[in-house]
Amino acid sequence: MLFQDKVVLVTGGATGIGRAASLEFARQGAAVVVADLNETAGAETADEICTGGSRGLFVRTDVADARGVEQMVDSCVAEFGQLDCAINNAGVELEWAPPLADADEAQFDKIIAVNLKGVWLCLRQEIRQMLKQGSGVIVNTASIAALAAAPKMSSYAASKHGVIGLTKTAAVEYAEAGIRINAVCPGVIDTDMTRRAIAKGGEGTEKYLPGIHPMGRIGTPNEVVAAMMWLCSDAASFTTGAILPVEGGRLAR
Ligand SMILES: NC(=O)c1ccc[n+]([C@@H]2O[C@H](COP(=O)([O-])OP(=O)(O)OC[C@H]3O[C@@H](n4cnc5c(N)ncnc54)[C@H](O)[C@@H]3O)[C@@H](O)[C@H]2O)c1
Repeated sequence: MLFQDKVVLVTGGATGIGRAASLEFARQGAAVVVADLNETAGAETADEICTGGSRGLFVRTDVADARGVEQMVDSCVAEFGQLDCAINNAGVELEWAPPLADADEAQFDKIIAVNLKGVWLCLRQEIRQMLKQGSGVIVNTASIAALAAAPKMSSYAASKHGVIGLTKTAAVEYAEAGIRINAVCPGVIDTDMTRRAIAKGGEGTEKYLPGIHPMGRIGTPNEVVAAMMWLCSDAASFTTGAILPVEGGRLAR
């Protein structure tokens, strides 16, 4: 019970990596706020947490909306009294855009609004609460597209590179305040997002994706969650501003 009596907030907690994180933090004793746009799946995740005997709360949230993000943190504190760990994980995907010269402005704006501004808004509100408490830990979900080129995904790559900048800067700004802030960079993970990308990518994508990792397979949500949990735990007490790849060796190639 690594997170007994802790309160954990997970954005994008309805499905995929966020859902797996919500369930695992709850299993480890935490009260969990599941924040997501998807009401049906978000409520299901929170229900599953409660059915398992832990405390769970779904809060419908659009992370790209400042007022909504304020309400998300307010709801967390109103229900559970504090905010110990935040996982800023909500995101929208690559859509196999054309190369940059032919890319679409509206798509760029949408991806930046959720993946980058959304993380900025969440960090700002979570840090305000953690400053009141004098402690806290935050993990942002970036991507291998945060650390290297991502052809046909220029907007997604820009948004995730931005998350690295936010992570490092906030980590330094709040290190003395007792708030640790890190990021994970998953490779291709078996989630709805990946399944949608495979469906849109056409023939060959499903066969191609495992091979981008030297391990020759895609990862599981729980393999990312394990890294998030370590970063949130006291075992990582001297780790802040770190960018942790979880990608089967992809970037070592
Ligand atoms: N799946 C992968 O291969 C992969 C790889 C690297 C990084 N990531 C990142 O991991 C994170 C989780 O993705 P996933 O693979 O679990 O995908 P997913 O689609 O299963 O989950 C994303 C969740 O975010 C929610 N969401 C989207 N926009 C939102 C908004 N504006 N406000 C609140 N919630 C919103 C969705 O409803 C969904 O529940 C994302 O940030 C994604 O970019 C995924």
